[in-house]
Amino acid sequence: MNDFMDRTKSLQGRVALVTGASGSIGAEVSRALAARGAAVAVHGRTESALGKVVADIGAAGGTAVAHVGDVRDAGRLDATVAEIASTLGTIDVLVPLAGGDGVPSPTAELTPERWRSVIETDLTSVFLTVHAVLPGMLERGGGRIVTVASSAGRRPSQANAAYAAAKAGVVMLTEHLAKEYATSGIRVNCVAPAIVDTAKLRDRMPAARLDAVAAHVPLGRIGRPEDIAEAVAFLASDASSWITGTTLDITGGMTL
Ligand SMILES: NC(=O)c1ccc[n+]([C@@H]2O[C@H](COP(=O)([O-])OP(=O)(O)OC[C@H]3O[C@@H](n4cnc5c(N)ncnc54)[C@H](OP(=O)(O)O)[C@@H]3O)[C@@H](O)[C@H]2O)c1
Repeated sequence: MNDFMDRTKSLQGRVALVTGASGSIGAEVSRALAARGAAVAVHGRTESALGKVVADIGAAGGTAVAHVGDVRDAGRLDATVAEIASTLGTIDVLVPLAGGDGVPSPTAELTPERWRSVIETDLTSVFLTVHAVLPGMLERGGGRIVTVASSAGRRPSQANAAYAAAKAGVVMLTEHLAKEYATSGIRVNCVAPAIVDTAKLRDRMPAARLDAVAAHVPLGRIGRPEDIAEAVAFLASDASSWITGTTLDITGGMTL
């Protein structure tokens, strides 16, 4: 890699917040940002899983701090962002990735309570996290936000309707923010993965079923957390400095 490539891909000196870092994709995103030099605040509800991510990053020579909390709690998010500012510094890179309540359900059986719960977890939480981080980015005069939607928010799928609507909402929230804050030096982009091989997925789907799904993917396999992490790291770095408001479909060709 030449000097230019090194420089644009580096996140040296940056501070990142990744929510959902206790899950497979968030953990891999956290490791990828740390490997490029960012100090990473890893956020989730499961302290033990966050501890493992912090340990992995530390063992690789990086910096990570765990923050336990619920992304539906605006007050707690504000406090977490203030804690990060006083320990690691102002957040430059935000990846509000927590969510994932896409378990299929016929819409006729989707209760209003479940609808509200999915919207709260998969859409409102993204707004709340961005809302907590934006003042620091505006004061500093820049930042990068990479949201996480889903192929379920790009076209109808087997996921429940609330999840589809929430993830489509994340795509539009991303575009709205990108336009609103472009002149403030804040770039906002989104990744929209299709099925990704995570611990949660392995718990839910037998290996034979996953193989059957993979057989229908044009590129011949389901996604890996690294596929998402590499794309997020690119969108968080200067290598993407003229890209904002885009949604990158990471699907192995499934959405073609
Ligand atoms: N896996 C896929 O195939 C796929 C495809 C498209 C998009 N995505 C998206 O990728 C993201 C990660 O999904 P995943 O598959 O890696 O799921 P996962 O393993 O279940 O991870 C979900 C993460 O979100 C956190 N989270 C959920 N609700 C939260 C809350 N109320 N407060 C704080 N944290 C909360 C979880 O924390 P705790 O576990 O600590 O509670 C966990 O870290 C989600 O946005 C999902 O929609 C996934």
